Amino acid sequence: MFNSVRFKITLWYAAALAVTLTLFSILVYHSLQKSLEENMDQLLAYRAEGVSDALETYLETERIEVGRRSAAAAKGGAFYKIAPELVHLNTEDPRQASVEVRILDASGAELESSRGRRVAPELPESTLKEVLKGTAAYDTITLDYGNSPENIFRSYATPASGTGGAVYIVQAYRSAYTAQLALGNLRTMMAALVPIIVLLTGAFGMFFARIALLPVASMSRTIRQITAENLSLRLKPPDTRDETRELADLFNAMLTRLEDSFMSERRFIQDVSHELKTPLTIMRGELEVALKKARTAGEYAAILQSNLEETQKISKIVGNLLTLARYDNREVRLEHSRVNLIELLRESAASLSGIAQQSGVALEFEEEEGAHPVEGDPLQLKSLFLNLLDNAIKYSPAGGKVRVRIFLEGSGPAVRISDEGAGIPAADLPHIFKRFYRADSSRSSAGFGLGLAIAKSIAEAHSALIKAENIDGGGSAFTVIFPPQH
Ligand SMILES: Nc1ncnc2c1ncn2[C@@H]1O[C@H](COP(=O)(O)OP(=O)(O)OP(=O)(O)O)[C@@H](O)[C@H]1O
Ligand SMILES: [Mg+2]
Repeated sequence: MFNSVRFKITLWYAAALAVTLTLFSILVYHSLQKSLEENMDQLLAYRAEGVSDALETYLETERIEVGRRSAAAAKGGAFYKIAPELVHLNTEDPRQASVEVRILDASGAELESSRGRRVAPELPESTLKEVLKGTAAYDTITLDYGNSPENIFRSYATPASGTGGAVYIVQAYRSAYTAQLALGNLRTMMAALVPIIVLLTGAFGMFFARIALLPVASMSRTIRQITAENLSLRLKPPDTRDETRELADLFNAMLTRLEDSFMSERRFIQDVSHELKTPLTIMRGELEVALKKARTAGEYAAILQSNLEETQKISKIVGNLLTLARYDNREVRLEHSRVNLIELLRESAASLSGIAQQSGVALEFEEEEGAHPVEGDPLQLKSLFLNLLDNAIKYSPAGGKVRVRIFLEGSGPAVRISDEGAGIPAADLPHIFKRFYRADSSRSSAGFGLGLAIAKSIAEAHSALIKAENIDGGGSAFTVIFPPQH
């Protein structure tokens, strides 16, 4: 289960989702926090500056009215009448509802507060100094009662100056509680939601991965049933056009190839046994007959002669099979020399001239200019052409002609050996290069059906192409085309 692709995909997917969601949550949290803070700071500044402006206007009017009296002298005078109104300035804005305002004197002592005489966040010494120098300042102030959200305040302090230096300080403040609460809620919600979303998506992911991989599971079941004995079994390709479909198709194609090679291997063993059995049966029969009673020297000689012929047949089959096996295993070390094709073919024809004469078949040569020599193993190439010539003579009627043409096909040397025999039945044509394959019409003549298989192996080892065709006027032609030589 934990090693399944399904689990791994889901796990990676869930991990990626968890990381993405966490990053997203952090981003949302921080941007909310920032906007809440900015919003709060703006509110505080707006309110405090409003009060400070009004206070400054009042101080200015008073200065004009009172003439040379300093603003500080107004203490205990008209200021105390106007201060309670000042601290409630602009409160009609609903967002200002929880913003409180205090007016302090230069020492930081409270002169008036919108909240009455209740505990308020005191400005730190440093802020006080700064404001008295003429700059407004923000602070986050925690009351001494401990730092639960209710006791944390955001404060903005700004100077309200008469003509000479800062005289009053206007402080606007608000509890950070609501913002903290909202942020806290968001934190809790995200901490709970992220794992839940990840788990849910993971579960869905597992489910969908299971559905997507169902064809794989069914394919595995079928594959488990396939053995050497039932290679004909095929996977049922899923009705999709995805990778699983491709896999099933490829696997089926591979099974077909395997089945073919298994079958041909079996057929081959059967054929070998069959071909060897015939001469062995003959030998055995003759030997048994010979042993039944005493024979004359002449009779023994005849039997031995016949036995010798059968052993020669067996040797030939075994020798041919060995050659084929060595080609199959790429054990044949080819000699690389320049072979004159014309000479080679004339030599081969000469060694078959006896048989040709016996069968009354004439050999004709036609050589084209520039049919270059080929690079290859002379012995092997000779064996190739001997096989083709042997067939051409063997399957020609008496009085027939076998033509050997050496020419250039494209830029590669080629040899075409044609005869005037019966040709090869169309149904057999695709198979004649297979081992032990013989057209029914030639069953009566001597042969094992290995000659063309060997010829093909030799041609392939020389990167040459070998093909068979029937000629229109009767007879067949075999062509060997070598690659261009340099
Ligand atoms: N020139 C040809 N004319 C007609 N049929 C041919 C010719 N050459 C080959 N064949 C057919 O192809 C089959 C295979 O040829 P191949 O040379 O492999 O076997 P073979 O000649 O029967 O036996 P072997 O060559 O092993 O003695 C032959 O049995 C024959 O039916
Ligand atoms: Mg042959």
